[in-house]
Amino acid sequence: MKERIEEILDYVATAVEKINDSNQAQALRVEILGKNGKLTSLFRFMKEVPSEKKGEVGKMLNDAKISVENMISAKETFLAQAELDNEINSVEKIDITLPSKTCTGSLHPRTIIQHEIEEVFKSMGFVVEDGNEVETEYNNFTAVNVPENHPARDMQDTFWLDNGQVLKTHTSAAQNRILKKYPLPIRAIFPGRCFRNEDLDAGHENTFFQLEGVIVDKDVSVGNLIYFMKEMLSKIFKKEVEVRLRPGFFPFTEPSFEMDVRCPFCDGHGCSTCKQSGWIELCPCGMIHPEVLRKGGIDPELYSGCAFGLGLDRMTMLSFNINDIRELNSGNLKLFKQFKLRS
Ligand code: DAH
Repeated sequence: MKERIEEILDYVATAVEKINDSNQAQALRVEILGKNGKLTSLFRFMKEVPSEKKGEVGKMLNDAKISVENMISAKETFLAQAELDNEINSVEKIDITLPSKTCTGSLHPRTIIQHEIEEVFKSMGFVVEDGNEVETEYNNFTAVNVPENHPARDMQDTFWLDNGQVLKTHTSAAQNRILKKYPLPIRAIFPGRCFRNEDLDAGHENTFFQLEGVIVDKDVSVGNLIYFMKEMLSKIFKKEVEVRLRPGFFPFTEPSFEMDVRCPFCDGHGCSTCKQSGWIELCPCGMIHPEVLRKGGIDPELYSGCAFGLGLDRMTMLSFNINDIRELNSGNLKLFKQFKLRS
């Protein structure tokens, strides 16, 4: 029995050397340890072994079984590792730390303009804030002095959610949160995506972007508003611009204005961009209504503020000479590939 076991072990040791893949390893396993395998068959002779020898022979057989299994699985592990090494070596090596040779992507023109405007305001001490896209009815309307059942709510045709929240109709929806969040004085801008149930045309989209700003301090005046807007517009249009204010109406500002910029493309002489008027309507704004300050936890007797709601899409269209607002949400790569970072 002992010789027979040793023979089998020698046989396996030689056979294992010749194995080249996992199928061959499995075939050898079956040949030796399978139901009718060479070693398995020896177990059948156990009943003929005298009982005083059974323990010793049984142990020999079991040890042999373990040795065979160990030899075959060691070879399998070796083969699997070799296969993996082979695979790794055959793949083209890429150094992911190298800079890319070509950069085919580009920022959306609106993002480019948004970043430029953010940089200008940051340089003047403003913080840049984010707003929610889904807002409470309170923040979107009530907190900015548009109470329930007030006709002013009709100015913005709103998408309501089943839970009573709204898709924010304007970036002013973040005013209340920001007035409460920051200690005074406050200088903040907050760009964001807004939604309204609009009929679409070249100038109207149901999804559009605004960039809101608020300045709250002691003795803030319309002069501050004009100064900051002029600074920003001059940097974006890369020339000294002139602005004018016309009276407007918004429930959250008193007084309210429409700010126009003298057409930077024709210097006010009249062109197709300004529709020959010499002026471009750009930015609704005004002095923050005392009620809005109060709702934001600020005493309007001590502090005053101004706010503006710049149309980011409009700024983008003017800066990149895009005529149809719908292009901005079109995902039209042919259009977007034309735009690179402006220096
Ligand atoms: N939220 C207004 C709108 O979307 C725009 C606006 C007007 C914002 C006046 C302001 C403001 O901050 O002072 O129509």
